[in-house]
Amino acid sequence: MNVLLIGSGGREHALAWALRASPLLGELYAAPGNGGICRDATCVALDVADHAAVIAFCRSHAIGLVVIGPEAPLVAGLADDLAAADIKAFGPSAAASQLEGSKGFTKDLCRDFGIPTGAYRRFRDAEAARAYLAGHPLPVVVKADGLAAGKGVVIAETREDACAAVDACFAGAFGAAGSEVVVEEFLDGEEASFFALVDGKTALPLAAAQDHKRAFDGDQGPNTGGMGAYSPAPVMAPAMVEATMERIIRPTVAGMAARGTPFKGVLFAGLMLTAEGPKLIEYNVRFGDPECQVLMMRLKSDLLPALLATADGVLDTFDLRWHDDVALTVVLASKGYPGSYASGSEIRGLAAAAAVDGVEIFHAGTTLRDDRTIATGGRVLNVAARGATVAEARERAYAAIARIDWPEGHWRNDIGWRALAREENSKDTT
Ligand code: AMP
Ligand code: GLY
Repeated sequence: MNVLLIGSGGREHALAWALRASPLLGELYAAPGNGGICRDATCVALDVADHAAVIAFCRSHAIGLVVIGPEAPLVAGLADDLAAADIKAFGPSAAASQLEGSKGFTKDLCRDFGIPTGAYRRFRDAEAARAYLAGHPLPVVVKADGLAAGKGVVIAETREDACAAVDACFAGAFGAAGSEVVVEEFLDGEEASFFALVDGKTALPLAAAQDHKRAFDGDQGPNTGGMGAYSPAPVMAPAMVEATMERIIRPTVAGMAARGTPFKGVLFAGLMLTAEGPKLIEYNVRFGDPECQVLMMRLKSDLLPALLATADGVLDTFDLRWHDDVALTVVLASKGYPGSYASGSEIRGLAAAAAVDGVEIFHAGTTLRDDRTIATGGRVLNVAARGATVAEARERAYAAIARIDWPEGHWRNDIGWRALAREENSKDTT
């Protein structure tokens, strides 16, 4: 079967790498892809926003499945237009993508179906939001309703900061995404990312992961798209997974189906594990980046039939196997990211780095120029490793990084610290 993969990040390189291992795969195309994906797939310069062009490409290249990586084309209705053209796609409809596209939509769904989440109110004007904030306990969370590339969330310690965040949203800091604002209760606890394949009716749990959102060691500095991740997440013990499936994932799947907008694709729940159990922070309607990289490193089963079963609505007869190993990925970013950064530097030593036992390198913001790897983005590479323990996976990843020659890059040196501390504690007590 020929597959077209949409996207250009580390997530899509990991998906390409996993798809490439499938005996069912014919040709793999990627649009637009990146410097690493082009080694695993044929990269094509398609305008993904031009759905007619994507459909024409699928017809001329006998594409059996389109795998849509990022949220923007999902929210824009690419899966709907492919379905209307009778082309199979992995990824939710525009209506179901509202789970990521509108925070207020998801909050209302939680209210209607009794899904645990922080208390909230939606606002369309600053005056009403300010009045509500006047009586709200601190800290309080202010969010732009729409897609804001992870930047539309402010955790305000003071009412002044909260009001400033409201004003910034309504003043257009996040464009149309900020024309509605959600004010939300602050949830205290440890965060985890949980993933499930959903075929409209049935949810099949994948693994859990934890990422590191801050730019610098010790969880300092600005928020980023994610500087590293690991899986499994030690806090997601079997009872916590079952509670999450029972109270959050299954009611969401049932609620979306009951509303006539069934969800098909991968549901990514950002969870806060509170003293009262797991609560939903937010949904994404795609794999996480860099969480996907560590999930693909741990997936033992063939990915392609799992994506097909999701699209075909037959997950109830499906099962997946996972490696017990720990997978951990460190993101190498351009100096300056998540602020402004320079592009165009060369990265050397990648072949030597990839030769470290258990290591895979997934490209994000790179391009190939005469076989040289050039940095072209904010997040540039993922150095991912598998190991029997967190400590081993982490040693391997950082041993590989030590072989990479890229003075223009920066990365965190403490990825996995929380899981490593837990691992060391449990060693002391057993
Ligand atoms: P989001 O884009 O909604 O995932 O928010 C980004 C980050 O802000 C989350 O990963 C959390 O660390 C934090 N956050 C969002 N909402 C809350 C909340 N209600 N309570 C505590 N932290 C939150
Ligand atoms: N790493 C978080 C995300 O993909 O949204």
